Amino acid sequence: MVGFFCLLLMLPELHSAPTVWIQPEQVHLSYTGDPTSMKVTWTTFSPAPSMVEFQKVPGVENFTECATGKATKFVDGGLQQRTMYIHRVELTRLVPGQGYVYHCGSNLGWSPKFYFVALKNGSDWSPRFSVFGDMGNENPQSLGRLQKEAQRGMYDVILHVGDFAYDMDEDNARIGDAFMRQIESVAAYVPYMTCPGNHEEKYNFSNYRNRFSMPGNTESLWYSWDIGSAHIISFSTEVYFYLKYGPDLIREQYVWLERDLQEASKPENRGQRPWLITMGHRPMYCSNNDKDDCTDHESVVRLGLPGHVFALEDLFYKYGVDLELWAHEHSYERLWPLYDYKVFNGSIEAPYTNPRAPVHIITGSAGCREMLDPFVPEPRNWSAVRIEDYGYTRMQILNKTHIYLEQVSDDQDGRIVDNIWLIKEKHGPEAWH
Ligand SMILES: [Fe+2]
Repeated sequence: MVGFFCLLLMLPELHSAPTVWIQPEQVHLSYTGDPTSMKVTWTTFSPAPSMVEFQKVPGVENFTECATGKATKFVDGGLQQRTMYIHRVELTRLVPGQGYVYHCGSNLGWSPKFYFVALKNGSDWSPRFSVFGDMGNENPQSLGRLQKEAQRGMYDVILHVGDFAYDMDEDNARIGDAFMRQIESVAAYVPYMTCPGNHEEKYNFSNYRNRFSMPGNTESLWYSWDIGSAHIISFSTEVYFYLKYGPDLIREQYVWLERDLQEASKPENRGQRPWLITMGHRPMYCSNNDKDDCTDHESVVRLGLPGHVFALEDLFYKYGVDLELWAHEHSYERLWPLYDYKVFNGSIEAPYTNPRAPVHIITGSAGCREMLDPFVPEPRNWSAVRIEDYGYTRMQILNKTHIYLEQVSDDQDGRIVDNIWLIKEKHGPEAWH
């Protein structure tokens, strides 16, 4: 009997996972940057073909179209070296603004069916976003509300500004699997756009780089894309902190950022998409009472390496970035238009109308096991609003001159606890003068 019992103990994996596991799971969408296409990503634990069947809705749902892609094998860096297959299929020739139904998998096993609306074309529409960071598996307080709102069609895009699952690599990446399953009811319906945070660091960000499918060829580390009248740049603040993965990444990303900002600033581009919006995980400024980088006057994200090399505040100011979205601090903080610790409000009556410096929003309170981050008692003079509730930000880019932002408190049953109109008649560095 003892021998049999020992044999059972030695084979825990055989009990926890079937040997063939080809059912698709963890289905999520991402935007490719082309309104006639959308990418579908999912996971199986055994090799299987990668197919998506889809068609326009409304109509009889016969899945009349089929697209194929391929799977990459991902081996987690944990002791068990768990293996999974990440399937990616790009749907093409979509009609912008059209609704679709789809399912993914193969004839070995299909997902449930999901719906999405292809993003609209051109700059003359008003995309709606939900923006947040720092959402985990435990205490994901905003998730239920986000699931309901995403399925009601309230958003065109989700921006998750780093820190997922807490942490995706834990329990041999089972925490990553659980997280991707629990966001499916948001991300299978609305493109879920991301940037890396510090909680993705393990094994050189491998869970993050393998599980998401952002545009460009950096394994989702930095990329940019256009939507409506905005150009959105997602980047990694983490290259400044985890030098062990290659100090060159800072320079590589910085060079890319400057080239991308130059391209977006060409009159023909900025004329059509005047809003430059960045998203990165760790903010340059914050007034929380932890000892994070943003509480430091010499913030690395703001000032770069010693000697102010690869400094992001100056780079973003130089090209007239309008709005900077951050997370990492588990709270919501809206700053006055700010450059180099100086406030540059448009006017006393209307601070966000023609501001003379970028506007920063820090929104990292979606909910995670680390709970909320309190503030220092006295607000800084550059801090406009500070809220210590679980929640998330909604953003709508109305047109070339108006952006609306509001903060939803999940603690207060969805009440809007802050809102601003950011109004700019001029964009680019000339707007600062
Ligand atoms: Fe973080």
